[in-house]
Amino acid sequence: METISYGLEDRVFVVTGGSRGIGLALAKTLLDQKAKVVICGRKQVGLDQAVEELKGGERLLAVPAHIAKAEDVDSLFDQTLKVFGRLDGLVNNMGMNIITSVVDADPSLWQKIIDSNLNGAFLCSRRAGQIMREQKSGKIVSVSSLAAHRSSPAMGVYGIAKAAIEMMTKVLAQELALFNIQANAVAPTMVRTSFSQPFWSNEDLYAQIVKGIPLGRIAEPEDVVHPILFLCSRAADFITGQTIMVDGGASAI
Ligand SMILES: NC(=O)c1ccc[n+]([C@@H]2O[C@H](COP(=O)([O-])OP(=O)(O)OC[C@H]3O[C@@H](n4cnc5c(N)ncnc54)[C@H](OP(=O)(O)O)[C@@H]3O)[C@@H](O)[C@H]2O)c1
Repeated sequence: METISYGLEDRVFVVTGGSRGIGLALAKTLLDQKAKVVICGRKQVGLDQAVEELKGGERLLAVPAHIAKAEDVDSLFDQTLKVFGRLDGLVNNMGMNIITSVVDADPSLWQKIIDSNLNGAFLCSRRAGQIMREQKSGKIVSVSSLAAHRSSPAMGVYGIAKAAIEMMTKVLAQELALFNIQANAVAPTMVRTSFSQPFWSNEDLYAQIVKGIPLGRIAEPEDVVHPILFLCSRAADFITGQTIMVDGGASAI
């Protein structure tokens, strides 16, 4: 893809779950755009590998944090402000799933999926919203999923958490509009990352999956990165409370 400029030079972004997958691709593109980037993840080894790959120098900060833990989230944003002095964008990218039906889910499993996906996005959005409200500007973009719009046997609890994140996006948009802060979401179909590898790496399953995607393929991380960057840019200043489907047309059929 040719270079597109989003006008994000020197803007400061927190990307949750930036050590691999979509978050890593997003961090890379933000650095290419000359933005300053903070990534987080639970595992130090993953962060170290990402730092090595991204080569972001002083524009990159990697903070170990479990985003469902309030004290980790506080530390993530405190360190962001200490190092970069402001916050222009939060991308609630982190997401996880454990395959289960809703009916058979042990309550502790339900809690784990809801905590990591929904509570994590809440804790980060809450802290970012408070900082951005002081600054009177900012963008919050959350990564949802097609699973928030269509029930799927293996992804029920995850889909419920993502649907709640889309509703939270509308609520944040309404609460923060007068402070010049926009909150939006993107909802991808399957993306080629380790998260969904068991599905796309199986040839027969892949053929079945792409039958439901008019564009005839699953998404690459870059397919999701660019809509996020658009929503983070000034070009999207009058868009708030929305979810852009990044699904190759899957939800159109
Ligand atoms: N891939 C798909 O098919 C697909 C489709 C639709 C939507 N999505 C959504 O896209 C987003 C990115 O997914 P992905 O495919 O890039 O995932 P991924 O490859 O599994 O990467 C997940 C990232 O999140 C971090 N992470 C996991 N749990 C965390 C926690 N509790 N606190 C902080 N960081 C945590 C991981 O690092 P550590 O393991 O070190 O914590 C890693 O950096 C997610 O919201 C996902 O739901 C993905």
